[in-house]
Amino acid sequence: MVKICCIGAGYVGGPTMAVIALKCPEIEVVVVDISEPRIAGWNSERLPIYEPGLDDVVRQCRGRNLSFSTDVHRHVADADIVFVSVNTPTKTCGLGAGKAADLTYWESAARMIADVSLSDKIVVEKSTVPVKTAEAIEKILAHNGRRGVRYQILSNPEFLAEGTAVRDLLSPDRVLIGGRETPEGRAAVAALRDVYARWVPGDRIITTNLWSAELSKLAANAFLAQRISSVNAISALCEATGADVAEVAHSVGKDARIGPRFLAASVGFGGSCFQKDILNLVYICECYGLPEVAGYWREVIRINDYQKCRFVNRVVSSMFNTVAGKKVAVLGFAFKKDTGDTRETPAIDVCNGLLGDKAVVSIYDPQVTGEQVARDLAMKKFDWDHPRHLQPLSATEMAKQVAVAADAYEAARDAHAVCILTEWDEFRSLDYKRMFDAMHKPAFIFDGRNVVDVAKLREIGFVVYSIGKPLDDWLKDMPAVA
Ligand code: NAI
Repeated sequence: MVKICCIGAGYVGGPTMAVIALKCPEIEVVVVDISEPRIAGWNSERLPIYEPGLDDVVRQCRGRNLSFSTDVHRHVADADIVFVSVNTPTKTCGLGAGKAADLTYWESAARMIADVSLSDKIVVEKSTVPVKTAEAIEKILAHNGRRGVRYQILSNPEFLAEGTAVRDLLSPDRVLIGGRETPEGRAAVAALRDVYARWVPGDRIITTNLWSAELSKLAANAFLAQRISSVNAISALCEATGADVAEVAHSVGKDARIGPRFLAASVGFGGSCFQKDILNLVYICECYGLPEVAGYWREVIRINDYQKCRFVNRVVSSMFNTVAGKKVAVLGFAFKKDTGDTRETPAIDVCNGLLGDKAVVSIYDPQVTGEQVARDLAMKKFDWDHPRHLQPLSATEMAKQVAVAADAYEAARDAHAVCILTEWDEFRSLDYKRMFDAMHKPAFIFDGRNVVDVAKLREIGFVVYSIGKPLDDWLKDMPAVA
């Protein structure tokens, strides 16, 4: 019987292992973490992350062949395959600050594996790591491991998207496994392939060398984010010319070489991965002496920052160039729908921009708590090329200027404007007439996710701005936004 242990019970480790346990009842899967609250959450009725369908999968396997534990050493020692799915955030200080991946958690996990292992292990990189990390891990294990214990390192990056994680894991576009091109390396790849082959068709399991697998994950995220920045760049031109970005994206996406997905214009991409992984790619390119390649990918992030700034500027300039003391309802704080995750959400930058202009914001999100909002808005961000007005406020200023509402109607009551920052389905069917009646006039809606029916809202009486859509006369008359 194969035993799997996964280090890191986060957005990736938890769902990935739950699906492996579901599909492989004869494999014992233990997810370990140093965070006691996280493990307690996984062992409770209220899982620590919100992900559609996940409760059901966990309920089916927990106590059967899936468990969650803080006894990291014991379970790592017992396992045949150790997945490492710890966080790899952007470094905030020292060499490469604001760009390079911080591998502190990874290194400490690797040293711990070397310390406690008494039998051979396959160590699987599940976290997204810089290309060539496997080489560093091999060295740590070789120099610190016990005599006679052998390790094979595999790269098996995860491609799930938050909000659809369970669906993506049950039916992945591909599973990627990279390993050493030696007999031992090939045997390790085959062992991991056997796990996935229980539910993933063979032609969707790709095997490569280690460096291709590591780099493919960074490249895939860079390509996805680049599509968003491309359509967002076009959205600015649409507003300037009277074209409609939805029509342009539809026409462009009909080309089979381009395809229709990931072409929705928005206030910008967020989430823990896109920005971090592109910055990491930029840093790697610089380290390998490829400044042109680094510059190319850096622009994807610049356009994303530009899009968030443009949105804030549009709000402020439309409202007579000042939002000081005006209540602005913010609908949606998570970085996308169907998740409570707020890491790098554009809502943080937009709210900080509005707060910097002295607005009073009232935030509603169906999955994000008030404590989380307060933490996010107080947080210092690494200030890589971020404009000054996106700097966070002090805790005292924030308490005066930020409120969290129980629903969209409470957020909009007595507001001058509504900003939609997450595409939650419920925002498509709100009673906007009711909101309009309770707002100051002129009442503005700034739709950062293109979820509202612009014509209907204009009929109600709103001044409406929707990213990349033809502008109201009102907005055309306002000074151009930078
Ligand atoms: P997360 O922050 O939700 O979870 C990481 C967990 O690792 C935390 O609970 C932390 O306590 C734990 N941890 C850190 N060091 C540890 C140690 N030494 N021993 C035991 N536990 C330890 O992070 P998330 O979102 O799950 O991401 C993990 C990795 O997967 C990152 O490299 C990320 O880039 C990558 N990834 C994330 C995706 C996402 O949608 N969130 C998608 C694909 C990849």
